[in-house]
This record gives sequence, structure tokens and C-alpha cells, in this order.
Amino acid sequence: MKTVYFDNAATTQVRDEVINTITDVIKNNFGNPSSTHSFGRSSKVLVEQSRKTIAKHLHATASEIVFTSGGTEADNFAIQCSVKHLGVTHIITSRLEHHAVLHTVEELERNGRVRISYVNVNSNGEIDYNHLESLLHDDEKALVSLMLVNNEIGNILDVKRVGDLCKTHGALFHCDAVQFVGHFKIDLQDVHVDFLAASAHKFHGPKGVGFAYVRKNSGLKALLFGGEQERGLRAGTEAVHNIAAMETAIQVAYDALDEERQYITELKSYFIVEITKAIPGVTFNGLSGDLDKSTYTLVNVCLPFTADQGQILLFQLDLKGIACSKGSACQSGSLKGSHVLSEILSEDDMKKPSIRFSFSIYNTKAEVDYVISVLKAFNPN
Ligand SMILES: Cc1ncc(COP(=O)(O)O)c(C=O)c1O
Repeated sequence: MKTVYFDNAATTQVRDEVINTITDVIKNNFGNPSSTHSFGRSSKVLVEQSRKTIAKHLHATASEIVFTSGGTEADNFAIQCSVKHLGVTHIITSRLEHHAVLHTVEELERNGRVRISYVNVNSNGEIDYNHLESLLHDDEKALVSLMLVNNEIGNILDVKRVGDLCKTHGALFHCDAVQFVGHFKIDLQDVHVDFLAASAHKFHGPKGVGFAYVRKNSGLKALLFGGEQERGLRAGTEAVHNIAAMETAIQVAYDALDEERQYITELKSYFIVEITKAIPGVTFNGLSGDLDKSTYTLVNVCLPFTADQGQILLFQLDLKGIACSKGSACQSGSLKGSHVLSEILSEDDMKKPSIRFSFSIYNTKAEVDYVISVLKAFNPN
């Protein structure tokens, strides 16, 4: 059966270069990086080399990169430890964040550790920066946690503006950059971010590995206790093959960034034009229809169909071999629907089916044509 993978915001296909690194390292570098013999030392060299490469791409220093099991752990690390070790009592976030952030701050609130303020967003999911500033009180230790690229609607945060606001008001700034790293560049010398979370499987790397950027002298301490790995900031034997593979993934992603960005932008733009022609009345959720204000990697469409037709459509797409998503992958099994869309869409639009299509360099225009033809044939109107 023909298959089309348009769910790259959920996870991406692992690049061949990355697979080569994994197999090479898993075969040839099985030593424990904490061991002092030659086997251990050669693994340690790989881990430290990966740290340097990742730091270089973000304009950070190597000691500011802490390897984690992925984006969820990096988010938890920054948020929980800011409260535990840095005296944060107020968390400012938005209702459009990933659950790795939202469920973490809700748990801290339930335990009476913090109060939460949610910054206002408009019907396009744009942050109200004036409201954000009004929430920052200089007499209270605050952590702002806002994502750089929204995983459902693709909106891009004005990270420089938020960083400057946080700096002015003495607040810490954590940024979930899981959908950003490997797709956009950032200069952490120029942008004021205290903590940042990234995940390799979103940029053609392996699952189960990511990293946290922790600004130098932040005072953050460990979330997990055990060995002295990661300078005591994250206990547990390093997944050397995954870390080295993440290095390859980030290196290839940034080497090829301009070319790949252009290719994927053209695909997204073509998709927008073709779906608009094929399904009159289709709308784009958040800013995802705006090529300048959203990530080039995804589009989220609201289709002018009934809820029942929507259910059948998702089945149909799957039967035709098309992988896409109705929310974030973590919610796909849930009946609750998207917490992001329910925050920004009208009641009427919430009844219509919304679908996220997300793209990578492994997709083609022919695949867009195929998906559009399936949608067009389905169109009951
Ligand atoms: C914005 C965002 N944050 C966090 C995560 C969680 O990352 P991981 O799957 O590496 O734990 C995801 C993945 O779905 C994401 O899209």
C-alpha cells in the first residue's frame, strides 16, 4: 500500500547518517563513560565531543548542555528544579504549551509550591506580550515558560522580546524548543534564555535522547539523584550511542538547514494552495497558514465538515496510508481533543475536524497531490 508520512511534528524518520553513527558507536564504543580505563575514556570522548558540537550550534558553551532522555525530561528538569533550587514561586506560562510543561506546573501548583498565571492569547494563538509584562512583578521570583514553536499550530514566539522582558524584570526564562532546534537557528549569546529543552527525535535523530541548555551560573541542581554524570546535574549512565547520534543529527540538520528549509517551505506553501483550491471553506488554525509567522514544518487545517464526517475522514486517511494527526501525538489516543485548539477556536470550529499535517525533507509534492486528492474525493460538500 502507498504510504505518506505527514506526521513529522510527532516524530521524524531517522537519517541514514544518524543510523550509521548509532550502529558504529553501539558496536565499537560500549565502554561506560564514567570508567577510567581506555574503553570508558573513548566513550567519554564521544559524549564530550557531542556536547561541544551541540553547544557550538546554539552559541552556548559545552558546560551549559546537559543530556537528558528527551524533551519531557528537559522541561521537567528546568521547571521543577527552578522551583526547588532557585526559589521560584510564580510560574507564568500559556495554555498552549505542551503537556510536558503544563502537567508539570499544574502538579507544582497542586502541591502548593507555586502559583500559575496564564498569559492571554488571541484567537490565532498569539501571545499578548503586554499582558505578559503586566504579570511580571519584580518583587516575586518568577519563571516564564513559553514554547518557541508550538507543536500543534506552529506559531513562533518572539523569543528575543520575551527574553528581554524577563531580564528587565528579573524573571527566569525557560523555553521549550523541541519543535525549533534543528529547524531554526538561535544565538544564545544574543537571546536571553535561562533554560531550553530539545529532543533529538524531532530533527531526524533517535528517540529517548535530548538535552537541556542551562545557562552558566544559574544555580540549578539535579532532578535525578545517583551518580555524578553530567557534572552531578543528571545521574545515570549516558546513552553514548544516542548522544553521538544526536550530534550527527544536529550537525547534518544545521549544515543542510537553508536548503532543506527552502524545500520544505515550498511543500507547505504548495499544500496550502492546493488544499484551498480543493476544499473551499478550509481555514488554517493558529498562524499555521502564514508562512512568515509559523514554522515551515507544519500546517493545521480546520475542515468545513461535520464532526461525524471528521471521524470517518481520519479513518479514510489511515486506510489510504496517510499518517497525519488530529492533535499532538501524545493526545492521539485521548478523547479529550486538543487543549491548544479548544483554547483558540470558536465552539463551531471546534465541532469541525482539524488535522495537523507536518512535513520533512523525505516528503514530496507528489505526496501532497495524493493527500489532496484523497481529501477532495472525500469532500462531502
Ligand atoms: C513542544 C514539545 N515539547 C515536548 C515534547 C516532548 O518531547 P519528548 O518526546 O522528547 O519527551 C514534544 C514532543 O511531542 C513537543 O512537541
